[in-house]
Amino acid sequence: MQALRAALLRFATDGTPVYDADGLLVIGPGPSGVQQVVDAGNYVSLAPRYPSLPIEHLPGRLLAPGFVDLHLHFPQIDVIGSPAEGLLPWLENYTFPHESRFADAAYAQGVADVFLDELLRHGVTTALAFATSHPESVDALMAAAQRRGLRLIGGKVLQDRHSPDGVRDHTEQSLIDTESLIRKWHGQGRLGYAITPRFVPSCSDAQLRGAGELAARYPDVWLQSHVAENADEIAWVRTLHPRARSYLSVYESFGLLRERAVYAHCIHLDETDRALMRETGAAAAVSPTSNLFLGSGFFDYAAADRAGFRYGLASDVGGGTSLSPFHTMLAAYYVGREGQTKPGVSLAPGHLWWQHTAGAAQALGLAGVIGNLQPGCEADFLVLDPQATPLLARKTQMAHSLDELLFSLIVLGDDRVITRTHIASAC
Ligand code: GUN
Ligand code: ZN
Repeated sequence: MQALRAALLRFATDGTPVYDADGLLVIGPGPSGVQQVVDAGNYVSLAPRYPSLPIEHLPGRLLAPGFVDLHLHFPQIDVIGSPAEGLLPWLENYTFPHESRFADAAYAQGVADVFLDELLRHGVTTALAFATSHPESVDALMAAAQRRGLRLIGGKVLQDRHSPDGVRDHTEQSLIDTESLIRKWHGQGRLGYAITPRFVPSCSDAQLRGAGELAARYPDVWLQSHVAENADEIAWVRTLHPRARSYLSVYESFGLLRERAVYAHCIHLDETDRALMRETGAAAAVSPTSNLFLGSGFFDYAAADRAGFRYGLASDVGGGTSLSPFHTMLAAYYVGREGQTKPGVSLAPGHLWWQHTAGAAQALGLAGVIGNLQPGCEADFLVLDPQATPLLARKTQMAHSLDELLFSLIVLGDDRVITRTHIASAC
């Protein structure tokens, strides 16, 4: 067992942040064979239970759950900051040409290492990630995650039409490859597989149907895609599926809305779509830096809360501009303020933080497993330095409440705040 004493942040089941200014975190071997949180709470009350356990004291530091990134693209780490007139030209001019390089296994392996090291440096301990359409890219990502002991979920992109040579796959082979990758990687240690149709325009009906059949055959496998991101994309879907009630309903018609299905963006939904998200248990990956960078629009937090569907935060790198959860949380705050419908909402800092930790875990169906530091959770945690920069030191010392402390970190924080990323090791 191991114990750390510092300020401690975690979340109650209803998402309320729980804070101990002088906290104790005890971790040890868990029944799943992965290190778990054994105890978490106030130092003075908990310490007497562990009289002979050496305690690492970290005065001035904050222990917090590792961040969960609900949607991003590992091959797009080098596409960050490629400007375009919106989503479709960005895909055509930068993203597809770049992703074609991942047919080369050695190239994919090199990028997978860079990508995962960057995630860890930014305090992200779990991600739901797109690879490319090349099965080699999934092997590269999964093997690199396995070497680091990460809980990572990823999948081979399905895109058998409206995609250039080099990234376009073949319908039947793409489904065979997906099933082999599920069998190879899903449930291996901490790894999970996600069936990954890129988006409706890039997938034939046969490919979407096959993806839906796999989703039914493997109910504990995840599913990830994009929906209702951009006006031109939505108009295109309307021409491809003229009889569909909405873009989201196309996925529904192929059996692609269910628990463990995570849809990036969900910006331009209507009330029927939002009810469908709730009824099916699908979740939205809110990707604010991407939506601002590509000019896609604003996720409607008020409408999402009224409908009651699950959501969490995501970087959507490389449409997104940063792997830093602090940057993503700040962008989500801007999106809430601007809103889709006026007046906007002022998202509380604890709620922003929850969306990137315990809330994102809940969206993945992994509440109580990751994204929190309650007893029984896997021990992925961060040691944060609230004095990482001179201005942060001033601001966080002036904080009179947890809200003020968390807001200072969200607005002024970045990778300099992350002094340690602890990954629950196998035991
Ligand atoms: N829609 C289809 N592919 C993509 C992608 O790579 N990024 C984003 N943001 N949207 C998409
Ligand atoms: Zn994306």
